[in-house]
Amino acid sequence: MMSRLKVEMSNTKYNSFRPGEVWPDNHGVHINAHGGGILFHDGIYYWFGEHKIAGEAGNAAHVGVHVYSSCDLYNWKDEGIALAVSDDLKSPIARGCILERPKVIFNPRTKKFVMWFHLEPKDAGYTGSLSGVAVADKVIGPFQFLRSFRPNAGVWPENVPAEARRPLLAEEAAFVAKLDLPGGPLPYFPKHLLFRRDFAGGQMARDMTLFVDDDGSAHHVYASEANGTLHISKLSDDYLKPAGKFVRVFPGRFHEAPALMKWRGKYFLISSDCTGWAANPARISVAENIFGPWEELGNPCLGTGAQITNTFNSQSTFILPVQGRADTFIFMADRWNPKNAIDGRYVWLPVEFRHGVPTISWRDEWDLSFFDKANG
Ligand code: GAL
Repeated sequence: MMSRLKVEMSNTKYNSFRPGEVWPDNHGVHINAHGGGILFHDGIYYWFGEHKIAGEAGNAAHVGVHVYSSCDLYNWKDEGIALAVSDDLKSPIARGCILERPKVIFNPRTKKFVMWFHLEPKDAGYTGSLSGVAVADKVIGPFQFLRSFRPNAGVWPENVPAEARRPLLAEEAAFVAKLDLPGGPLPYFPKHLLFRRDFAGGQMARDMTLFVDDDGSAHHVYASEANGTLHISKLSDDYLKPAGKFVRVFPGRFHEAPALMKWRGKYFLISSDCTGWAANPARISVAENIFGPWEELGNPCLGTGAQITNTFNSQSTFILPVQGRADTFIFMADRWNPKNAIDGRYVWLPVEFRHGVPTISWRDEWDLSFFDKANG
């Protein structure tokens, strides 16, 4: 007993979160898992994220998806590269592609670990807007790349009226073709045309998350329609493809960086505005049903004007339900550093419920005992 305790203690270096600081792994190296997400499996947390390299080159994928494990959320063990980019230039995940916001879920029916990510083929900027899927038998991989595609080809969103369920007319297509749609908000954004344009070939899919509901159904939430509109799309029972049911959420509002949580029967979505690597104000939205209707509540951040405006200089990536504790969620965000991508920092803050709504406030340093006080 004594000796086991000793071993456990000698592996324990940290006992708090320090948002925005360098966060060393078990080798003393800053954790390299950006735009990440966490899977809790068999009593262990696994953190998957983008492995970035130094400099601006690090904004593209040169290595793959990195995975770390932890029992306490403070101390992370490097478990290596879960999904490696390919040396084959013809591969959709060729080294130098853009591979962002990987999320992994476990399918209890197939016993497979399923990873989805945003994929942009090498040297094509953000024009591809593809979803990538990979699968593994073991939680830390190696993951096998399965395919990349634009989701929901040939499927109409459930929440558009019958008269909107038709491909673009020739004049509408000509109008859209002339617009410059760089992927950010525009006053003339054609907020009800792009999903019709993309019906046949599949919907654009950039920033994304996955969410598994209490009944085991999984959902893919992605920024679609040139980032203008979020889609919430059910996955097939094996989690490997869209199930053919999706809705459009907040057309023309440009929500990025979606992160979902469920609390007391309600779904809460934290997302960001759409300004590239630069931090911007976060948004929180609520729904009683994952397919909506969704309502925007405002900005979940509390604090100074600057903190509220730039989300503590970060952008959402995931909301982690802490296991074994009621009402306990951690807001996970990235403080990007596009000039030296590897030095991006992690901002983890406790979700604090106020009047039934999740809010986020800054803490220089905090630990899980915070929740004893908050919930006590
Ligand atoms: C952000 C997005 C990141 C990345 C970046 C590229 O808005 O959330 O995942 O795509 O833009 O500029």
